[in-house]
Amino acid sequence: MDGIKRTRRLRGSELLRKMVRETRMDISSLVYPVFVVEGEGKKEEITSMPGQYRYSIDRLPEMMEELRQAGVSSVLFFGIPDHKDEAGSGAYADDGIVQRALRYTKEHYPDIYCIADLCMCEYTSHGHCGILCGQDVDNDRTLPCLAKIAVSQARAGADMIAPSDMMDGRVAAIRRALDENSFAEIPIMAYSAKFASAFYGPFREAADSAPAFGDRKTYQMDYHNRLEALKEVRFDIEEGADIVMVKPALAYGDLIREVRDMVQVPVAAYSVSGEYAMVKMAAAAGGIDEEKIMCEMAASAYRAGCDIYITYFAKELARCIKEGKIG
Ligand code: PBG
Repeated sequence: MDGIKRTRRLRGSELLRKMVRETRMDISSLVYPVFVVEGEGKKEEITSMPGQYRYSIDRLPEMMEELRQAGVSSVLFFGIPDHKDEAGSGAYADDGIVQRALRYTKEHYPDIYCIADLCMCEYTSHGHCGILCGQDVDNDRTLPCLAKIAVSQARAGADMIAPSDMMDGRVAAIRRALDENSFAEIPIMAYSAKFASAFYGPFREAADSAPAFGDRKTYQMDYHNRLEALKEVRFDIEEGADIVMVKPALAYGDLIREVRDMVQVPVAAYSVSGEYAMVKMAAAAGGIDEEKIMCEMAASAYRAGCDIYITYFAKELARCIKEGKIG
């Protein structure tokens, strides 16, 4: 048979397929999101995210040990306070839940890299990501609050600050505040292309952060748009973001690729709560193979170009990488 282009030749064996693999994954690029609650002795399973928990600080060690064993060394902290108010003041309290979780982790697990999610929605009584003016978030009045939260998280030991609020000018405000308070070396990972997404549903149950009225569409992006995502990324980098993020990951591979091709900084992709919930629930119903789907989703995000992958499957993915099932 003359003239046949034999692409199958390089698929002939597992060893050869691995040799010519184009996408490689490394455990060190995985980030595991952690929910921390007030109180003691708590490890509450999140109903819509089977296998994920809200931990009180005294129960963090078992989770940290699991991470260590899996070889995952980066976490993204979310705090769930007992008390919320209009101004989300718990977010910058010195003894706030995230601040205490950071201090505890840096003291007992100094080898764990701690990223602090920076947003107000878990701390405001109305569930929006900033200070309200009528029914909408007041962008410019929110900026000083975000800056204050960043400094308090850095003081508590955060290794990196990750603003997820989507206010305009927040990266510049946070960068300035960090620099003025001797935290010039702390990087900012900006949730830059963050879409108003139904994929965050389970997270909002987990963090009790659903908006009490309306939605987040005046600050998070419309998912029909790509140029706007590139603009957000560009502005964030101009303002001083060290790492930019595309979120969610699964339905946004096109943008992960475009952002990767456009910028010179690392790109993170966040595989969000709804992605995790869909896999867990479809697998529990016998519809899909959980491990294989998890691996395929992760590979797609890395193939799209992400350098950092934030996922609730971090431990399981690390095992699959170690076992050579992926990457
Ligand atoms: C806070 C925040 C959210 C997520 C990360 N940071 C929720 C939201 O914007 O409503 C979502 C994470 C997930 O769904 O896993 N603003």
